[in-house]
Amino acid sequence: MKTYFGSIQKHSFEINNLLDHKNIYMVFDENTLEYLNAFERIITKNFKYLVIPSGEENKTLDNVNKIWGFLNLNHAKRGDFLLIIGGGMTGDMAGFAASTFKRGMKFILFPSTLLSMVDSSIGGKTGFNYNFIKNNIGTLAFPEAVFYDINFLKTLPKNHMISGLSEVYKHSIIGDPTLWNYLKSNPKEFDYNYIIERSYNLKSQIVAIDPNENNIRKKLNFGHTVGHAIESFYLNKKQPLLHGFAIAKGMIIESFIAKKEKILNDDDFQEIRNILTKYFSSYIDFKIKTEYLMKLMKFDKKNTSKKINFSLPSSIGEVSINHEIELKKVESYLLEFFQND
Ligand SMILES: NC(=O)c1ccc[n+]([C@@H]2O[C@H](COP(=O)([O-])OP(=O)(O)OC[C@H]3O[C@@H](n4cnc5c(N)ncnc54)[C@H](O)[C@@H]3O)[C@@H](O)[C@H]2O)c1
Repeated sequence: MKTYFGSIQKHSFEINNLLDHKNIYMVFDENTLEYLNAFERIITKNFKYLVIPSGEENKTLDNVNKIWGFLNLNHAKRGDFLLIIGGGMTGDMAGFAASTFKRGMKFILFPSTLLSMVDSSIGGKTGFNYNFIKNNIGTLAFPEAVFYDINFLKTLPKNHMISGLSEVYKHSIIGDPTLWNYLKSNPKEFDYNYIIERSYNLKSQIVAIDPNENNIRKKLNFGHTVGHAIESFYLNKKQPLLHGFAIAKGMIIESFIAKKEKILNDDDFQEIRNILTKYFSSYIDFKIKTEYLMKLMKFDKKNTSKKINFSLPSSIGEVSINHEIELKKVESYLLEFFQND
């Protein structure tokens, strides 16, 4: 897999080089379609494209089916390329469609949100939501190339920028205290090239060692055991909660669990909670009934019927994996957390 940092215009030679002798198909979502002209200017060959509806509620089998139909109708072959221009939702879903079409056609990601640049475009996870469960069906499939161009962020709404930052905070807590100190210093304007590259380096190093999530890749799940349950809870509401906000709340709750389990000291817990609460403030100011969260966590691929598996921070910059905690204990921690939250 190749990665390129910088504007897509700057990399037009590499893009055309990769696509040489192949048929090109593209998937945009409603909000990235505005970049069609930019691609028409860069790509020297003809291509066909499909637009899928935006939003997490559209990360469905129906839309996967639409992408398969589009590829099939246009006689796409295994060696052809699917170019995916979008955030994590589009990347995951169209990546899944490509990875299963003709047993896996090639695809290239152009992540267009902060979250997709710092997280979802790294590590090969694809998928879609099924039966109210996030990413219930998926594959592990790596793109041929990823192009990181922060110019896409110029059109990204502010709440999505803030949501994307939660995965950057996560990376800093699980393995990059220098990045944590940078975020903590609260600069007037973040240096996005810096935080994307640091996130990319951290996650790609972990994935290179453990692509199948047998051990250290589980570190990346910090905040996600509770976070995914929160996100799933909001999936069937009128207004789904952005992924990053669910994860930010999940990180605070899991840090509290780490403190209760005597893995994390109180100072570090307070620091994590204060910094995240301050940065994400009104976006994470909600409560969910413990019984709903417990029910949803039981569905998580990582859990058994009696215990829940957590990746918990042991300090800022260190996370330890495979903490299996009995359901009853988890329930009591959640009740205590929400009582004082
Ligand atoms: N594969 C992984 O490892 C992984 C990791 C983390 C999250 N995810 C998944 O990523 C998804 C969340 O990612 P996301 O926040 O990027 O969501 P998203 O793809 O839904 O994008 C968020 C919103 O921004 C719009 N958008 C995208 N690019 C834009 C641009 N440049 N300008 C203006 N608007 C733009 C989209 O249309 C959408 O409305 C979730 O489905 C989550 O499960 C996957």
